[in-house]
This record gives sequence, structure tokens and C-alpha cells, in this order.
Amino acid sequence: MIPDSFFEELKYRSDIAEVVGSYVNLRRRGRTLNGLCPFHSEKTPSFTVYPESQSFYCFGCGAGGDVITFIRKIENLDYMEAVRLLAQRAGMAVPEQEGDDRTAKLKKRVLELNREAARFFHQTLMSETGKPGRAYLVKRGLTRETVVHFGLGYAPESWDHLSREMRRRGFTEEELTAAHLATRRESGGVYDTFRNRVIFPIIDLRGNVIAFGGRNLGEKGPKYLNSSDTPVFKKSRNLFALNFAKNSSEKNLILCEGYMDVVSLHQAGFTHAVATLGTALTEEQARLIAQYTNEVILSYDSDGAGQTATRRATAILEAVGLKIRVLSIPGAKDPDEFIKKQGGERFRRLLEGSHSATEFELGKLREQHDTATEEGKVAFLKEVAVLLSRVGSPIEREVYLSRICRDLGVDKAAVQAQVEREYRRRRGADRKREERELTAGKPKLRAADREEELLFRQEPRKARAEERILFYLTRHPDSWQMLQKMLPEEALLTETGRSLYRALIGRFAEGRPIELATLSAELSETAVSRLTGWLVTEGVNVTREEAEDCVRCLNEAAGQKTKEEIGSSSEEDLLRYIEAIREAKDKKGE
Ligand code: CTP
Ligand code: MN
Repeated sequence: MIPDSFFEELKYRSDIAEVVGSYVNLRRRGRTLNGLCPFHSEKTPSFTVYPESQSFYCFGCGAGGDVITFIRKIENLDYMEAVRLLAQRAGMAVPEQEGDDRTAKLKKRVLELNREAARFFHQTLMSETGKPGRAYLVKRGLTRETVVHFGLGYAPESWDHLSREMRRRGFTEEELTAAHLATRRESGGVYDTFRNRVIFPIIDLRGNVIAFGGRNLGEKGPKYLNSSDTPVFKKSRNLFALNFAKNSSEKNLILCEGYMDVVSLHQAGFTHAVATLGTALTEEQARLIAQYTNEVILSYDSDGAGQTATRRATAILEAVGLKIRVLSIPGAKDPDEFIKKQGGERFRRLLEGSHSATEFELGKLREQHDTATEEGKVAFLKEVAVLLSRVGSPIEREVYLSRICRDLGVDKAAVQAQVEREYRRRRGADRKREERELTAGKPKLRAADREEELLFRQEPRKARAEERILFYLTRHPDSWQMLQKMLPEEALLTETGRSLYRALIGRFAEGRPIELATLSAELSETAVSRLTGWLVTEGVNVTREEAEDCVRCLNEAAGQKTKEEIGSSSEEDLLRYIEAIREAKDKKGE
């Protein structure tokens, strides 16, 4: 058992505003701090940090809790892992614990293995064996300095170059396959995943090597091979080179498609370039980006696929409130090729002249319609109206509109009216969608949460009663005895509700206050979120009468058996209890 004093010290040293502030841009608003929620997509901040109670709560998606819960959620860790991370950050040693969680151990081993493998790949590249790899990188125009900076490596054409060496250093086959560095053979044993490839290690924001990308040097197999998701890696949550880009003094980020684009750009001095990891941009990555910048320059390949990807990425980035510019790269298929042909200075000029996403879309529309004909003009303008209705700033809308109408020689007022109609329609639709999302609860629910969500919808009366009685309990700790008698745990609607009820009564019975830090050890994330929601609620009051109704409602619904058990004596108890409070209150009033 880890002593309470450790957690107290940890909490004291892990100020929630500071910890959250390193992930989310927070702005002070009176006694609280606000920012864009990192757990769901939003444009207006509903994520709130409460320094006084050292807690956070999002009014949009209902995520909430203490600093440990926050780290658990954002880093995708279990409770003890989050504690360890915070301890590390605070420079504290976590007391040893027997029965250390198996998955935590595996994660730790995989990270160690990844680090050693990266080092070994790099050494191989620099050794005699690495000649083909070095020749390739030189051909691609990379300097030795760049190769070292990115820790690039080489995996030779061999089935066991890496696995043999890692086994020798004490790593197991299980660890090798868990890290996706080796694949299991049906006949037993394992073989190296990366063969005859240049290796790009993927490093997270804490400096851990979490995965690898490998560029094929031969003909066999796919051009790039990427680690699949492992215990320490989720493709959809990470970006290549963000560990470097986050330190850049540029105010925006350049988002590319490929590893080579990023490496070339960094070499040419554009250290604010990042790339996705062999997949299309995800919502999670967009949110990650939004934590570091408010503007993205999309610099995808100039082929058709790249342009389609640009459009998709635009939508995703816009959804989290990022400003977007789109780079068109003339005469080259991607940024890497452009820099090689034209040099960094030319690229800088491209960046400066990069268009807004709207301009990019307008250009595309213009290409799709023959604006020399009347029908072409009408069709074009209809699409323009839809496009411009999405532009948030009225001034920006005005600028584009004026220019287009001038170019086409059409009357502005008519098009303007159309844009405004579209705008109003869209705003209505947006609002409806937001409402839908809010009432549907969290964006991503675990299976158990989904079941509870369903229960909530099917049994609105009970759901409300559960919610209110638990809220009442948080506000009236001294009611625990009465509730324990009147309301059996099983009568509550959901497992989350029952676990909260149990935990709260347990605490109050010991005379301890509600404390998120220690409660979050025994409660699920969903439970902690619900609890935090009640704690931060202001201006709501559940009266004794209402509490009484809730107890009755839950008990009635809990079925015949419980009803009999509780019977009339419970009602009497309740009345007596209420009487007692009244008296106490009257006395106070005197
Ligand atoms: N990619 C992948 N698997 C492939 C091809 C591509 O995962 N078979 C991903 C890689 O992350 C790659 C990115 O898509 O970096 C861009 O692909 P592509 O444009 O084909 O790569 P380039 O960067 O142009 O590759 P290179 O310059 O090395 O030819
Ligand atoms: Mn390329």
C-alpha cells in the first residue's frame, strides 16, 4: 500500500492549473481557467479548471475529475501509471508496490525495448552493415547532422538482425512482438518486422520512442511500413516530429503527408513541420495540434489523392477551431521534392503566399464550372454561397464576395442575399447538431457507458432520481446514515451510480470529506466525471422533500422484494430524520 502522505505530497506538487496548462491553452476567467476541451471537439471553450478545488470539468462533454484523472484520460493511462507520471514530473519517487500491474510493466519494457532498438538501428546505419542505408539517405539529400538529429536507422535484409541482438540483451519474444518489432512464426520463434528499410523512430512529447516507420529500399513489400498500435502507441494520437516542432518559435505548424517531407523541411530550417503516421488525419491529432498552435499550413502532395486529403483535413482542422492555409506546390509532387529542386528560400516564399483554405476551395470550384456561360455562372455562384456561408468572419466573406462578383461581372446584392440565407440555415443546423451531441453525452463511450446511457434514456424518471439523490448526498454528507437505511445500493439505476453511492457513504461513514484525488483511485473515469460535475455545479439545490421523493421513486422501481424489506418502517425513519433536520435548522435560526 502506498501511504496517504505520498498522495498528499503528490497533489501538493501537481498543481492542476499547471499540469493541465501544459496540454491545454488556458485563459483565466475570474476564479476559474477556461480552454478548449481536449476530450471532445469544440470551438468555444467549455472546459473549466477550478484551482480552488483542484479539479476540472467540461460542460460540453461531461469529462471531469482531479489532476490524476486528467492525466489518465489525456495520456490514456491507468491510475497507477498516471500517478507515476505525475510523480516523475514532480521529482518524487513512487514507493515500490508488489503486484505491480502487468500491463504497466509490459508498457515499461516495450518502451525500453524501443529505445534500445532505435539506438541499435542507428548504430547499424552508421556501421559497415549500414552502407546501403547511408547511400540511400545521401541520395535523398540528407546530411549526417539531420540523420543524427532524427536518430534515423537501418534494418538490413535479415530475419533476425534486431531480434537476435535484443534477445541477447534480455528482451523476450513476447516483448518483441508486443512492440511490433518482430512477428511470430507459425513454426515457433519470431522474425524481424523491419527488413531492408531505413528506420524513422517516432518520438512522443516526453521523449519516449513509441514506434517506428520504415522506408523500403527494395522492391518487395509496401513502400512504408509503420508500427501498428502497441501498448505504448496509438497512431491516431501522435504526429511525427511534434517533439521538435513544439519547440519552434513559428506561430503555426506545417502539416505534411510523409516522413521524408518533414525531415527535408526540418533540414531546410522549417522545424515547425509535422506529419501523420501513415494514416489520414484524425480528430485526435487535430486536437493535439490545437494545443500548440492556432494555425495550420496544409502541405500535402500535389496529386489528386493529396488534394482530396487536403479537403478532408481542412474539415477536421476547422472543427477544432484552427485557422488553415493551404500550400500549393508548383512543379513538384511534394514538399520534399520541391525543396530539393528549388531550395528553402523558394519554399519560404510559398509559405508566405499560401492561400486560405477558402481560397483553395474557390479555386477548385472555379475549375469545375464554365463561368463563361450563364448556367455555369449560376451553378458556380450557388456553390460559392454554400462555401462562403461557412466562413466565420463577415469581413472575410465580404472580401471574397466582392472579388468574385467583380471578376464575374454580377450584381453583389443578389449573391450576398443567397450567402446570408445559407449562413442562417447552417447556423440553425449547427446548433441542432451541437444540442444533439450534448444530449447524447460524451463523444466516445465505452461499452459499459453506452449501456448506462441507454438506461438513462429508457428510464428518465429513475435516472433523474439517481442523479438528484447522489447530488443531494454530496451536498449533505450528514444524510449518509439516513440514506444507508432508506436506500439500498441495489435500488440505484446504474453501476456508476451504485459505485459512487458506495464510495461516498463509505467516506462519510469514516468522517472523511469528498476528495477527488483519493476517490479517483477506486472509481471509474465515468464515475469521477459525474461526481466532479456535481461538485462544480452552482446554484442548484435539492431539497429534503425532493430527496425523499427520489428515494421513494428508486425504491418503488427497485421491485417488490426491496419494497417489502423497506416497508413502512423506512418511511417512518425518513420522516423522523426529516423532522430531526428541521429541528436542528430551527434551532440554528433562533
Ligand atoms: N505511407 C505508408 N505506406 C505506404 C505509402 C505511404 O504508410 N505504402 C505513408 C508514409 O507515412 C509516407 C506517407 O504516407 O511517409 C507519404 O507517402 P508517399 O507520398 O508515397 O511518400 P513520400 O514521402 O513521397 O515517400 P518517398 O519520398 O520516400 O518516396
Ligand atoms: Mn516524397
